Amino acid sequence: MKSVQLKQELPEVSVSSVTKNQDQIVILGGVPLRGEVQVSGSKNSSLPILAASLLASRGQSVLHNVPSIADVDIMCKMISSLGAHVTREDHTVIIDASHLKTSVAPQKYVRQMRASFYVAAPLLARLHSAEVPLPGGCVLGTRPIDYHINAFRKMGAQITVERGAMLAKAERWEGAKVLLDHKNSSVGATVNIMMAACLAKGTTVIENAAREPEVINLGDFLNKMGGRVSGAGTSTITIEGVTELHGAEQEIYNDRIEAGTFIAAAIATHGDVRVRGLSPDHLPVFLEKYQEAGVSISTGEDWIQVQASSPYSGVDISTSPFPGFATDLQPLFLTTMCLAQSKSVIQETIYDGRFNYVPELLRMGADVDITDNTAIVHAVPKLGAAQVKSSDLRAGAALVIASLAAEGRSEISNVKYIDRGYEDLATKLQNLGAQVARQHLPTIDTEEVPQPGLKISHK
Ligand code: EPZ
Repeated sequence: MKSVQLKQELPEVSVSSVTKNQDQIVILGGVPLRGEVQVSGSKNSSLPILAASLLASRGQSVLHNVPSIADVDIMCKMISSLGAHVTREDHTVIIDASHLKTSVAPQKYVRQMRASFYVAAPLLARLHSAEVPLPGGCVLGTRPIDYHINAFRKMGAQITVERGAMLAKAERWEGAKVLLDHKNSSVGATVNIMMAACLAKGTTVIENAAREPEVINLGDFLNKMGGRVSGAGTSTITIEGVTELHGAEQEIYNDRIEAGTFIAAAIATHGDVRVRGLSPDHLPVFLEKYQEAGVSISTGEDWIQVQASSPYSGVDISTSPFPGFATDLQPLFLTTMCLAQSKSVIQETIYDGRFNYVPELLRMGADVDITDNTAIVHAVPKLGAAQVKSSDLRAGAALVIASLAAEGRSEISNVKYIDRGYEDLATKLQNLGAQVARQHLPTIDTEEVPQPGLKISHK
């Protein structure tokens, strides 16, 4: 990742703790964000569509507006390891999956990124065989894949779990009626079953399907490949199996969670920002809740303008699947509510580990009480700058927002998590007037830990 320098010289950096070649983001907060920002392609649209390109037994797929983020890098390596020929030119990815060479997915990619499990469906659909390590849990929670496995079994796969991997063989591969859990309506299970069903014999119906925009984006791509998918975006998706799919061209939707990140950053800094490239329909409840808080939000067909110069009040939310309040936006929203004029109650219904970032906010002066899956956010007049550590992608984004609001110098480490889902976040924020720099901290030999105040220039 390229390093980004502040417009003004950073004060001297004394390395207080030995660091091992880590990146960090340094922010001099308290500056209202102003201007326009164009969001990049969606991580959560790109990953299933990249996996779905494996379904094409002839021709190339050409994907446009694919973001340059770490998770896309992992998925491109994953599909290449299975035999696909992948080339990337700027934000376009070209994939030829005519000749797959194995049905065994490498452990290293699945363990790094849960969405790598999406290759299970195309492997089963095309090769009737798949050996894919189980993704395992993460800081957000256990994150099982029972919905995926149960559906594959209904479609004819014999599945065992051995040595932490799913081993699946399918003598027959047929459509089935799949009823997903109504509470969670899993995005991952929905997209995996859609892909699996495209080459199954007969009809598959997914009830309680996830309705997120990325499901619609995938359905469009599968139909351009020669698939027969209807109902994507509704809670009932029907797929008529076909015998073969071919490569197709597809535009990736822009990232609604990245858009929400800039909206929350504008609000936390009392700024005035226009976020371009996203339909407000992709952020339904999120925008309404900020308007309820008293934030001025105007929208157009593909833009959202936030004017947040005046104080706003606390608002209660509860996360739920689309079109409800997205769990990925919860850390960003909670951070802004720390600086509201009144209390907020925030309930997280999707993941049991999604408040793991709050202790870092408390170190910045936030006042949040957590009981089970509910956070009571008491308003504080301001946050204080600090050295903080991100624990996952959206936790990192929340700490960036808090640091932009907090006067003084904050340092956010573990930037690798932010790189998973945000393309050039520091540059985009700098273009909105933020005093932000991304820095590579040198590896320091323990014998030479520098004395406080020693000036180290960062290149
Ligand atoms: C997708 O994850 C997103 N990732 C997540 O975004 C997002 O938080 C999540 O959907 C919910 O919206 C991608 O799209 C790549 P799930 P996914 O399967 O599909 C339960 C980010 O920050 N469940 O919808 O893996 C599960 O425990 C990431 O961009 C089962 O019980 O999530 C959870 O409670 C983080 N069994 C709920 O469903 C299953 O087999 C939602 O999980 C599958 C899921």
